[in-house]
Order: sequence, then C-alpha cells, then structure tokens
Amino acid sequence: MINEQQVREVLGQLQDPFLHRTFAETNGIINVSIKEEKNHVSVKVAIAKTNTPEQMQLQMKIVDVLKEAGASTVGIRFEELSTESLEQFRGTATESEVHDILSPLSSVQFLAIASGKGGVGKSTVSVNLAVALARLGKKVGLIDADIYGFSVPDMMGIQEMPVVKDDRIYPVERKGVKVISMGFFVENNAPIVWRGPMLGKVLDQFFRDVEWGDLDYLLLDLPPGTGDVALDIHQMLPSSKEIIVTTPHPTAAFVAARAGAMALQTNHDILGVIENMAWYESKSGDREYVFGQGGGPKLADELRTELLGQIPLGQPDWTNDDFAPSVYEEDHPTGKIYLQAAQNIIDKLSK
Ligand SMILES: Nc1ncnc2c1ncn2[C@@H]1O[C@H](COP(=O)(O)OP(=O)(O)O)[C@@H](O)[C@H]1O
Ligand SMILES: [Mg+2]
Repeated sequence: MINEQQVREVLGQLQDPFLHRTFAETNGIINVSIKEEKNHVSVKVAIAKTNTPEQMQLQMKIVDVLKEAGASTVGIRFEELSTESLEQFRGTATESEVHDILSPLSSVQFLAIASGKGGVGKSTVSVNLAVALARLGKKVGLIDADIYGFSVPDMMGIQEMPVVKDDRIYPVERKGVKVISMGFFVENNAPIVWRGPMLGKVLDQFFRDVEWGDLDYLLLDLPPGTGDVALDIHQMLPSSKEIIVTTPHPTAAFVAARAGAMALQTNHDILGVIENMAWYESKSGDREYVFGQGGGPKLADELRTELLGQIPLGQPDWTNDDFAPSVYEEDHPTGKIYLQAAQNIIDKLSK
C-alpha cells in the first residue's frame, strides 16, 4: 500500500527530461489519486514537451518507481507546463535546451551528402558517416531522401518499420542512428516519380512529423546528379553543410563539381569532399589506383574546400547475427577511416 505523500516524494525526485529539474522543483506533479481497494495509483504530470520519445521513457520510469514503492498498477497522464513556468526555467536551461523545447530541429546541424552522379557510393558514405558520428558519441539522424533509389534500410539491414503513433512518426534506430527512408513509405519497392509539391510535402513531413528527439547532426542522403529533382530538393532543404562524394577519376571530379555548384547556388555551404573507391589495397599493402587518382584533392581544390577523407575499395565484414551489409565495423581499416572523416567533420564545424 502506498499513500499520496509517498507518491509525491518518489515522483518529486524524478527529472523533467527537457528542463533537467526535478518535478519537485518544476511543480510538475499536477494530481495524484489512489484507489485503495485496488492499490492503483494515477498521476498527472506536467513536462516541458509532450508526445516525445522522452515522454515515453519517462512514462516507463514512473511506472517502475511507483511499483517499486508499492503500487500494484499505475496510470499516467501528461500535460505541458504553462509558458509561464517554462519561461521561469528557461534561465536555467542551456541555450540549446531552450531551442529543443521550442523547436526540436532548430539547433541541429544538417549535413547533406551529394554527388554529381549515381553509383559513386553516396549512400554508402552517408550511412557510414552517420554511424561513425554516432560512434563518436553524437546524436545522429539520417534521412534517406534519394527518391529514385532509397537504399539506406537495406544497407543498414533494417527489418522493422517506423512506429506511427498519435500522428507522429518514430524513426527506426539502427547502429545508434535514427533512420527515416522514403523506402518506409512506399509499397513493394515501387519506384517513385514525385516532383515539386509532392516531393516538398514528403520532405517537409520528414522534418516536421518525425519525432527526432534531441539531435546533433541530421544527415541527408540526397538524390544524385544535378537535374531537376536534385535542384528541387536543394531548394527545399533547410540551410545545410554539403559533403560532395566523388570517385578519384578526374572526369568524375568534373561532374561532382557541378553538384558543388548547385549547392552554392541554392545557398548551402560546402563542408568538404569525400573521395570514395580511392584505391584498392592488396594483402601485401600495395595500393592500386583502380579508378585513377587525384579526383578528390582536385575537386576539393576547385570548390575551395578540403578533402575530409579517402575511402578505399573493399566490402565490410559480414556477420549473420547483426547483418548490416554496408556498414564497416569500428575496428575495420575502412571503419577507422570513417571515424577519422567524422572527426574531421566535427572539428571543422566546431571552428
Ligand atoms: N568503397 C567501396 N568499395 C567497394 N564497393 C563500394 C564502395 N563504395 C560503394 N560501393 C558499392 O558501390 C555500389 C554503389 O554505392 P552506393 O552507395 O549505392 O552509391 P550511390 O548512392 O552513389 O548510388 C554499391 O553496391 C556499394 O556497395
Ligand atoms: Mg544511393
């Protein structure tokens, strides 16, 4: 048996997930009622922001602590703290926490991965950079915005679909990255021919209706090329830092330079270049420049930016128990190169 006093004491020690203040401090415990005959406790709690993944976690936590304290069953309702109370605690929350409360994506850094043409490894690079950033402790989301060839779910070995609840879409988490793909919303792998307004609506939905939670970086795997669709998407994107992927052949670099030009034309910044399929390293450690040499540095030079990394040819090691066919393990030589590239990105952005 538990009484109201005890419930208030136990709950009072838990923290508001956004304000990082206890409910005792935020006066977040709005109501407690107890049905003695059933030993049922129901509570109403006010938090900074409702309908978030944080709320779901808190919900489980509240059930745990109340059951531990003696309740048989628990019912919880949430409401949002009044703007007056939010204002009051704003001074104690950090700048970025306040941003998160007001608009979850307003403090996130968008990283758009682009290429002059398909098949150069743009999606492979997007996936592995996202995973590497997560391995470095960052909170990372990834939008597979390639409407022609969404491939991220397969590349990461994603089996499940995002959960949709109360009109919110919860991204699938894989290898520490929150993932949303066009592929989740298309039946039978059918190719899509959307353009213009339709495309904009879908992208907008990815930003607005997806419950990303607190993110440091949101990566976008863009459609390849410099055609109309690529241009449409560039124009709809929030202001982003673009990473251009190229292969090492000089002609590939020419094509990639056009993608860079499109980025600048649509008011995005270029963060750097990744040269993929840079060489093949034989067992003896010799490098063969299968696709030529120099394309990455040349492109970086031309775009007045830097080379963030050079990725050699080679497949990840596959394991059956955690199958993610395009993700390199952390201790794989290429996995280490991705970690370094991710670190370069972090360093460059924090300057
Ligand atoms: N460094 C690499 N070594 C070997 N194969 C690669 C490498 N990068 C990409 N690939 C392969 O090349 C193909 C195209 O890569 P993908 O990432 O789908 O390109 P894009 O998104 O630019 O079309 C895929 O089969 C992928 O597994
Ligand atoms: Mg792709």
